[in-house]
Parts: sequence; structure tokens; C-alpha cells
Amino acid sequence: MRVRSKTPSGDLGGIDDYFERIEDSEFLVLKPKPGNDLLIYDPGLPNVATCRSAISYLSGTDGMLRYRDRPIEEVATGSVYLDVALHLLEPSPSEARRAAFVEAAQTSLILHPEVRQVIAAMPAASHPLDIVAAGLLAASGLEASTLGAEPDFFERAAYVIAQTHICAALVNRERQNLDWVDPDDLGTDYMTRVLHRLVGCDVAQGEARAKMLDQILVLHAEHDQNCSTSTVRNVASAGGDLFSATCAGISAFKAPLHGGASEQVPKMLDDIISSGQTPADYVDMKLANKDRLMGFGHRVYDCWDPRARFMYNALDAKPEKFVDVEKLRNTVLELIEATEQRAFFKKRKIYPNPDLFNGILFRWIGMPPAMNGVMLTMSRIAGWTAHYAEQVSDGLPIVRPRQLQKYV
Ligand code: ACO
Repeated sequence: MRVRSKTPSGDLGGIDDYFERIEDSEFLVLKPKPGNDLLIYDPGLPNVATCRSAISYLSGTDGMLRYRDRPIEEVATGSVYLDVALHLLEPSPSEARRAAFVEAAQTSLILHPEVRQVIAAMPAASHPLDIVAAGLLAASGLEASTLGAEPDFFERAAYVIAQTHICAALVNRERQNLDWVDPDDLGTDYMTRVLHRLVGCDVAQGEARAKMLDQILVLHAEHDQNCSTSTVRNVASAGGDLFSATCAGISAFKAPLHGGASEQVPKMLDDIISSGQTPADYVDMKLANKDRLMGFGHRVYDCWDPRARFMYNALDAKPEKFVDVEKLRNTVLELIEATEQRAFFKKRKIYPNPDLFNGILFRWIGMPPAMNGVMLTMSRIAGWTAHYAEQVSDGLPIVRPRQLQKYV
């Protein structure tokens, strides 16, 4: 056992005795020097970076999010989800790689009877994301029947993504007592096929809704380190396979302080609408009660989150397009206006976050609020596969944090 050379009560020396300065850019980044008996106590890890990543970059002060080197606004308008998923895995894939990836995803968009049995066997009271995770774990054992015995990592990632989409679609259909559809639609694009399985839709509305679904999945495909992404990396660090790692990510994401928060905004909007209160009165009531307004504020962004801004612009630009969700849309826009008029929010730099908009757009696509977390998982599965791949290819050591003794 190493002996601490300097006790807390004695001379601690300077920072350079303990740390190597490895970067001095936006942050001063310090790496503990070996040989010091040094523990950093930082519950929640707000000041700890556990990896280097080229997959995304965000700046909470500038309201900026990039997937690799591309701003999110450009990605969301110019790329489709499968291409984004591949771009997160590899910056410049060859055309052959892209073709194989898309084909693997299209081929994997099938419902295995065994997966169907597993999902059907889950109790009705189970959370939709637990059912998706169970279905995905079952799908792991069926990969060879779809992709052959030795798929490469990219094909496997495409399979995981497509099977997540299939499980999500089946859970939605079961929850709504809808028959499963497996249309013979080879030839239509990937997201239209996903949409058909999720909600069905007529041809006239299908194109606009499939495009919106694709854009939202692109917007949420990746977001730096967070509880679920770090969980995926933790499992990968121990040599866990992609299926186990992403299922662990789903379990983390389901939690109320993470992806589960997306179910709170629809409840709030329904409350406002059913109470007959104006959104401005609701905001004042929340402030008077010192309650939080759902869909506002973000740990990282102290300005508009660019994803929220993108969805706000979409909703604001074409009111006629969103006539099916008119009340929700108007309520959200009025809530934003009310917060902008109140100093409380400006002073604390509290702005709309993506959850304020996700629920409306998901509902416009035809999804019930209880499926919001599932919809976001359908998106984030891309980022998780990319972080898994980067964690493994960087050869990072197994995650093994420490604990301090608690005296009771
Ligand atoms: N409504 C009202 N007040 C708020 C809100 C809010 N949504 N968010 C923060 N505040 C206030 C706090 O009460 C506090 O006020 P005080 O200084 O008078 O005590 C101040 O702002 C700072 O609060 P913190 O909790 O320190 O701020 P933080 O940035 O850590 O909070 C969080 C971020 C947890 C997301 C918070 O804004 C929140 O609870 N929002 C509502 C829930 C929500 O929308 N969650 C989704 C998150 S985003 C996403 O998942 C994509």
C-alpha cells in the first residue's frame, strides 16, 4: 500500500505536485500523477472527464452542438438518420461501407418471432423501455439468423439500431391494441418503413411525418457524456458486448431524471389545457409555489439549447402544418413568451429545453406521451453504438472508481 507523503494538515504543496496539466483550453484539464495517494471526491462527476471523444462537441455557453465537425442545425436539415448514425461511428465512411450499413439496417428491420414472444410475455405494467430492452436482449441471440455468422461491427450496429426500432414499434402497437404490420415495402426509405411499423399512416401524411420523425431522431442521436452514454461506456470498458452495453444504456435512460423527464412536459401541458388556466398564469403559479416549470432549464446550456431552438423554429414557422396539435403548440409558445417576460428566468439563464417540444412533435407523428422515452431511445441508440465503438477502439481501461469510507 502506498503511503500518503503529505497529510491534509501539513503542507499540501502545489497543484503541480499532484497533477500533470494536460490541456489549458476552455478548461484547465488535470491528470493525477501516478504515485500520489490522491482521490478526487466528485459525486455526479461534474468535474471529471472519463474519456476523450471525437463523436460530438457541445458548448453550453455558446448554445452549440456538433456531431463530429458538423453543427447540429446543418446535420438536422441535410442528413437522414441512418447516415448520421454511420457518421457518428466513422467520420468519412466509404460508399461501400455506407451501402453495407444501410442494407444491414433495412435487412434487420424485421420482427423475429422469438422477440415477439419475449415482448408479449412482459407484464402489462412494465415500463415500455424495459420491454424494449428485453426485446433487444432477445434479438442479440438472433443476430446470426439475420446477418450471418460474422457480421462486422458496422453491420452489428445497424442491426442493434433497427432492432431497437422494431421493438419500439411493437411495444407501441401492443400498448394501443393494434395489429402488427409487416408491409411488403422494400424500396421505400428506412424511416418510412419505421413509421409504418410504429403507427401506420396514409401515404399523403406519411412523407411529412417520416421526415419529421427522421429529423427528431437526428436531433437527439448524440449528446456528449451523460448518465446513459457513460453507462454504455462502463459496460464496454469491461468487455461487455454491444447488446448488453446498449441495453444498460436504455435502463439508465429510462430513469426519471434522465430520459424519463420527457414524460413530464406532456402532463404539464395537459394540466394547463384542462384547467383552463392561461400559460402565463400557470407560470406565475409555479413561481409563487417555487416549483419548477417542466421543459425549461438545462444543466449544460445556459442559453437556448440548439436542438430546442430547431424544434421551436419548426413549430413556429408553419402553424397550419401542426393543426392536429394546435392547442399544445399554442400553449408551448405562450409559455415561452411568459418566461421571456419574467425576470426570474432571464436572471437564472433558464431557457426552453428539448423536452418542451419533443412531446408535441411525437404526438403529431402519432405517438402517445407514454412512449416519449422510447422515441428518444430510438434516436440515442446511434450515439450509444458510436461511444461503444470509440471506447473499445481507444482501448480504455475498465472503469473502476473508488469510494470513501462512510462512518455511521
Ligand atoms: N423552472 C423554474 N425554476 C428553475 C427551473 C425551472 N425549470 N430550472 C431551474 N430553476 C431555478 C432553480 O429553482 C434555481 O433557482 P434559485 O437560484 O432561486 O434557487 C436556479 O434556477 C438554479 O437551479 P439548478 O437546479 O441549480 O439549475 P440546473 O441548471 O442544475 O437545473 C434542470 C437543470 C435540473 C434541468 C432544471 O432546469 C429542471 O429541473 N428543469 C425542469 C425539468 C426538465 O425540464 N428536465 C429536462 C432536462 S433537459 C433534457 O433532458 C433534454
